[in-house]
Amino acid sequence: MYRIVKKEILAPNIVFMEIEAPDVARSARPGQFVMLRVDEKGERFPLSIADWNREAGTVSIAFFVVGKSTTKLACLHEGDSILNLAGPLGIPTPVRHYGRVICAGGCFGIGPAVSVSRALREAGNRVTAVMEVRSREFVFWEDKFRAVSDEFILASGSGLCGDERWANNILDELLRRGEKVDRVFVYGCPFMMMKCAEATRPYGIKTSVSLTPIMVDGTGMCGACRVEVGGETRFACVDGPEFDGHAVNWDLLIMSQRRFLREEYLSMNLWER
Ligand code: FES
Repeated sequence: MYRIVKKEILAPNIVFMEIEAPDVARSARPGQFVMLRVDEKGERFPLSIADWNREAGTVSIAFFVVGKSTTKLACLHEGDSILNLAGPLGIPTPVRHYGRVICAGGCFGIGPAVSVSRALREAGNRVTAVMEVRSREFVFWEDKFRAVSDEFILASGSGLCGDERWANNILDELLRRGEKVDRVFVYGCPFMMMKCAEATRPYGIKTSVSLTPIMVDGTGMCGACRVEVGGETRFACVDGPEFDGHAVNWDLLIMSQRRFLREEYLSMNLWER
């Protein structure tokens, strides 16, 4: 059992949990994920690792409450336990000295974006952090993101933060005015990652995207995270989660996201009854 030592509501429907998992904390690296099962009737589902504390033996997650499993998880309190937590899983982010790096995070992607930014900065990169939110109330960990970057930009295309630019618009602007960018990392929903990859594509700047949100069982067996990358079939859970955003077939990926909508809806309805 894995005890929840801290729980916090970060933003509407975004929940933070710090969980005792010493073995996972000991070997966690930026960009990896964990698989959880809340109770014996629960499904396994993946969440990005937002942070870890090796001394305290804890890992942190910041997740969006979107279906039955994340709702069940969000209903737990500090002191409660999660039945299973396996990890760290996935190939870690390739942290190297690239030069100028942009690290963009939106929604549940802000958590991993912060830990990746920290690692990239420690590797000697100049990091520009871009936080994409729908509105002010969705901003969280701004202080943390600022602390691990050299420059911080808040992007909200809704105009609710006094700005009308999404993360992809920020990338587009920086690149149009000739700023030197050596590498881009994006964490968030598939649509945000696709738009950011589109923005950097004309400039040939390698853009890594994290496909944790499309996984289901995380073992390479269910096939739900099948994705076409560079014309070849890949599985996000075993070959990723990070891939070259310019090589991902986004049309197929976004279409496949809708496959389980009906089942998810039915499952949530049954559970609520
Ligand atoms: Fe099932 Fe990757 S999540 S094969």
